[in-house]
Amino acid sequence: MAWTGMRIAPTLGDPAPNLVDAERLRTSFSWAHARAELGTPPGDRLNIAWEAVDRQVQEGRGDVIALRWLGKNDERQEFSYAELARLSNRFANVLEGFGIERADRVCVLAGRIPELYLTALGCWKAGAVFCPLFSAFGPEPVRVRLNNSQARLLVTTRLLYERKIRALRSQLPHLEQVLLTDGDGGDEPGVQSFHSLLAAAADHRPLPTTGPGDAALLHFTSGTTGASKGAIHAHEAVVAHRLTGCWALDLRPGDIYWCTADPGWVTGVSYGIIAPLTNAVTLVVDEAEFDARRWYATLAQERVSVWYTAPTAIRMLMKAGPTPLHGHDLSTLRFMASVGEPLNPEAVLWGQETLGQPFHDTWWQTETGAIMIANYRSLEVRPGSMGRPLPGIEAAIVRRRPTGGVERLANGKEGELALRIPWPSLFRGYLDDEERYRSCFADDWYLSGDLATQDDDGYFWFVGRADDVIKTAGHLIGPFEVENVLMEHPAVAEAGMIGKPDEFAGNIIKAFVALKPGYAASDALRKELIGFARTRLGPAVAPRELEFMADLPKTRSGKIMRRLLRARELGQPLDDLSTLMEKPSES
Ligand code: WT7
Repeated sequence: MAWTGMRIAPTLGDPAPNLVDAERLRTSFSWAHARAELGTPPGDRLNIAWEAVDRQVQEGRGDVIALRWLGKNDERQEFSYAELARLSNRFANVLEGFGIERADRVCVLAGRIPELYLTALGCWKAGAVFCPLFSAFGPEPVRVRLNNSQARLLVTTRLLYERKIRALRSQLPHLEQVLLTDGDGGDEPGVQSFHSLLAAAADHRPLPTTGPGDAALLHFTSGTTGASKGAIHAHEAVVAHRLTGCWALDLRPGDIYWCTADPGWVTGVSYGIIAPLTNAVTLVVDEAEFDARRWYATLAQERVSVWYTAPTAIRMLMKAGPTPLHGHDLSTLRFMASVGEPLNPEAVLWGQETLGQPFHDTWWQTETGAIMIANYRSLEVRPGSMGRPLPGIEAAIVRRRPTGGVERLANGKEGELALRIPWPSLFRGYLDDEERYRSCFADDWYLSGDLATQDDDGYFWFVGRADDVIKTAGHLIGPFEVENVLMEHPAVAEAGMIGKPDEFAGNIIKAFVALKPGYAASDALRKELIGFARTRLGPAVAPRELEFMADLPKTRSGKIMRRLLRARELGQPLDDLSTLMEKPSES
């Protein structure tokens, strides 16, 4: 039987999980069918923003609250689907007024504020490419990303503009306009007020004319070598966002859904904007940073029914103990899920014991665009496992053959996690790096760079990364970017960076530094170097620890062997080091 599921929207009161018949769908589902159910009329147009807001209006949900924003000083703002449709039309008209055209990049550097959401939706309607920049990045990562994206327009706040952008503008030849969400530019050329422009724009627009393959999103992510890579996603990704939101997060119309991820990273866009809106839920956005008491109060007071968060946050809640939970009624909470880093079995069980249900781990990446593997609601949770692939997704554990191609490994064997291409939210390229893009594929598999195993029941278990990128508090950090900044300090001859296991953040960033002749290691110099890195990189990316070494271990070709630094940090016996040295990423 062919897939006909999405038109029959699940209802809020239905006790059955959304993905109740995963086994049948595994054989009968096709992305082409799912795609055929969506689509901006007429014909083969497809637009994320239209699917997210205008479709809901057309289907009679215009008055439903789409976005409920909680400000850090306890302000509240609500936007209905009809209001989001109208305001995003306006912002698309603003962009058009600046001559922003199909495929032009528009960046946002801001925290979780309503303007970010209007910018994303307006971009998509105008056919522009939305590119979020994490607001805790320092000036250096911001400069690199703005430069590489060649963004013509940036939306940001006055404070962030003054702190991170103004001094760089002469180095950003492509950046024509900056729109401030909380003020105007005064006399400064190329700086204007977001809200004045929005107020002056027209409410109406013709239907978007984007096609499924048109670029919609640019997400910068990190690799082992080189600067960050810009992963490009197309409008068609919305087919996967919508369906995986329904299946893996159990979203249904009427849900109150809270995604704690920041839209500066892929989760905060795929599951913090697109999946919830295309599933007609009320999206809760909290501008404030983590605070155990506030989080429990938000879950209770906003009557959150589906919650998507991350292991670091869960571990912080565990650490905070039961007191902040007292007096909060979480009985509306139907489903809790987690993503971004390994979810330890203790955290799954803590959810069960303390909040009345387990956390459901999900696995995916910036490149996959949407959830691939999950402990969906109808699947028995195995604490410590990432779950099973969703319908439409085939996952396998493989080994790259030295001669090219891949070989599938038997159950229980450790290897690289691979996914059979294609699916709608698979990235379409790395910005200006076709070769790197091609190297992610072998035969008809996408190779994730993660090491994992599969058990006899088809559950996948995360083992680690095959490369040197670091996950700290759920954020993916590339060693190169940090090392490069340290190397700019006059005292530094060599720098190497690793993730050092940490009880709460998963890993913290630790740097190893060899000094130039004439400099002596001291506590003062250590503090200076960490401060130097913080100023340029921002607190989320800068090393937390720094150790001096006389020399850093290097390959014959002169590359720093981070794996040896890691082994040293963990006190691994030297016997193991010879095998570590043979890993391909070190050669
Ligand atoms: C990397 C991707 C997940 C989307 C947002 C981050 C790690 C992701 C899990 C999980 C263990 C996980 C992987 C992956 N990761 N989910 N459930 N268990 N590790 O996307 O920044 O591109 O990071 O996050 O190593 O490759 P990203």
